[in-house]
Amino acid sequence: MPKFQAPRGTRDLLPSDMAVYRGLETLGRRLAAIYGYQPIETPLFEDSAVFERGIGEATDVVEKELFRIKSPGSGDERWALRPEPTAGICRAYVEHGMHTLPQPVRLTTFGPMFRYDRPQAGRYRQFWQFDVEVIGDPGPAVDAEVIELALRYVRDAGVANVELHLNSIGDGACRPAYVAALVEYMSGHAKDLPDLERRRLAANPLRLLDTKDARTQAVLEGAPTIDSYLCPACRDHFDSLLAHLARLGIEPRRAPRLVRGLDYYTRTAFELYQRGAEGQQSALGGGGRYDGLIELFGARPTPAIGFGLGIDRIAGALAAAEKAPTMYPVAVVVGADPSATDLRLKLATDLRAAGIAASAELAPRKLGRQLEGAARDGAHFAIVVGDELDAGQVQLRDLEAGTQRVVNVADLVRELERAHASHRHGEAR
Ligand code: HAM
Repeated sequence: MPKFQAPRGTRDLLPSDMAVYRGLETLGRRLAAIYGYQPIETPLFEDSAVFERGIGEATDVVEKELFRIKSPGSGDERWALRPEPTAGICRAYVEHGMHTLPQPVRLTTFGPMFRYDRPQAGRYRQFWQFDVEVIGDPGPAVDAEVIELALRYVRDAGVANVELHLNSIGDGACRPAYVAALVEYMSGHAKDLPDLERRRLAANPLRLLDTKDARTQAVLEGAPTIDSYLCPACRDHFDSLLAHLARLGIEPRRAPRLVRGLDYYTRTAFELYQRGAEGQQSALGGGGRYDGLIELFGARPTPAIGFGLGIDRIAGALAAAEKAPTMYPVAVVVGADPSATDLRLKLATDLRAAGIAASAELAPRKLGRQLEGAARDGAHFAIVVGDELDAGQVQLRDLEAGTQRVVNVADLVRELERAHASHRHGEAR
C-alpha cells in the first residue's frame, strides 16, 4: 500500500487518460474557434459570495458542495474553489466592463471544477468542464445555436445516441405562480420528505425538482409541471426555440421537470444524456439561459445563455464504448545500423520541427526489434534509415498496409502529410 494516495474523489490523469482529455480539450478549442467563441480563464477560486449569490444559497452546490478556503491569518472562509465557471465569468464580464464590447460576447473556457460531493461513478470532487457562454443576446435563436454546439461537441467527440432534454423554466413573471402550486402540492407530502428537503420546501422549492433523494423523487411523480404556467412571453420564446431547433434538424425530448441544480436559470434549460443512461448522475452536460445573473453582480440586466459539458463523463462514455482516442506518433524513425542513433534522432528532430508527430528508436537494437517497437507504439509509419541515406533517401514503410517504398528525405514531410491525411491520428476526431 503506497503511503500517499490522491485525495478521495480525485484522480491522477495518467498519460493514457491525458490522450483522451487533451483530445477533448482540442476539440473544444477547435469548435469554439469555428463558432466564434473567445477563450477566457478566470481564477480557480473566487470570493465565496460570487458563488453564493450567483448559484444560490439554498442549492446543493453552495450548501453542501462548496470547497471553502480559509484565508491564512484571518481564519475566515472568504474564498471557495470554483464549483462551475459561469458565476466567475459573469463576475469578470462585469468587472472588466465587457458590456462596452459589441454584444453578444461569446466566451469559452476549459478546466477543472471542484465540488465536495459524495464520490461515485461519474461524480468526482475535481472534474473538468468544457464551457461556453454567450452574454448579451436574449435569444431564442442564439439558444438554438448554443444547444446545437453542445450536441455537435459530444457527437464529434464520438459519443453515440445522445439525447437532448429540454425545458423552459419560465421567468420572474410566471415562475412564482408555478412555485406556489409546487409548494402547495409538496406541503401535502411534507411528512414524506427528509429534513433537508423539507427545509428546501420553505427556502427554495424549485430545488426539490432536482433532488438526489429517492423518497422525494417518488413524491415528485405527481407534482405539477411548469408547462401550464408559462407566461405568453416565455411560451413564445420556447416555441420559437423549438422552431429554430427543428430547422437545425434537432428534436429535443421535452423534460417538464428539468430545472437544473443551480438557481440562476431562466427560460431555456437543457441537458444531454446518452440514451438509456438517464440517471441523476449521468448528464453529459447541461446549460441554459440565465437572464438575471449579470444583474446580481451589480450591472444592468443582461441576457445570457451557456452550457458546461462534463469532460470526465464524456471520457467515461467513450471508454465504455472503447472509442477513446489515443496519442500515437505518426512515424517512428528506425535504422538498419543499431548504433546510428544520431542519424535517427536527427531525422525525427527535423520531422518534429516540420510539425510531424515523430519519434526515434534510440535504443541500439536490431532493426527487427525496432520495427516491433514502432508497431507497439501505434505508429502508422516507420521510416527506415539505411544505406540509401547517402543518396538522400529513406524507406517509408506503412505499418498498417505492410507496404514499403523509397522516398527522398527532401520530400518526406510532404509524403507523410499526404499519407497521414487518410489515417487521421493523435486527437479526438
Ligand atoms: P452543471 O449541470 O452543474 O452546470 O454541470 C455541468 C456538467 O458538469 C454536468 O452535466 C456533468 O456532466 C458535469 N459535472 C457536474 N458535477 C460533476 C461532478 N461532481 N463530477 C463529474 N462531472 C460533473 C454547470 O456547471 C453550469 N455552469 C452550466 C452552464 C454554463 N449553464 C450556463 N452556462
